[in-house]
Amino acid sequence: MYVCICNNITERQVREAIDDGARSVRDLNRSLSVGSECGKCTCVARKILKREQQEQAMELAVPA
Ligand code: FES
Repeated sequence: MYVCICNNITERQVREAIDDGARSVRDLNRSLSVGSECGKCTCVARKILKREQQEQAMELAVPA
């Protein structure tokens, strides 16, 4: 699914950027240019970021 139409950025790319250390929409803007044109994608990018961070927190909370 495309997150950012203006820059042809997919959800997969956003998730990979988060796995590589992006912690905010600003980080995603720096690494992928998310939101650099019309800005309509920032809301979706923020939701993906939040979801990924929650999943990472859950993984850390579950004992091995
Ligand atoms: S859809 Fe991302 S900047 Fe326009």
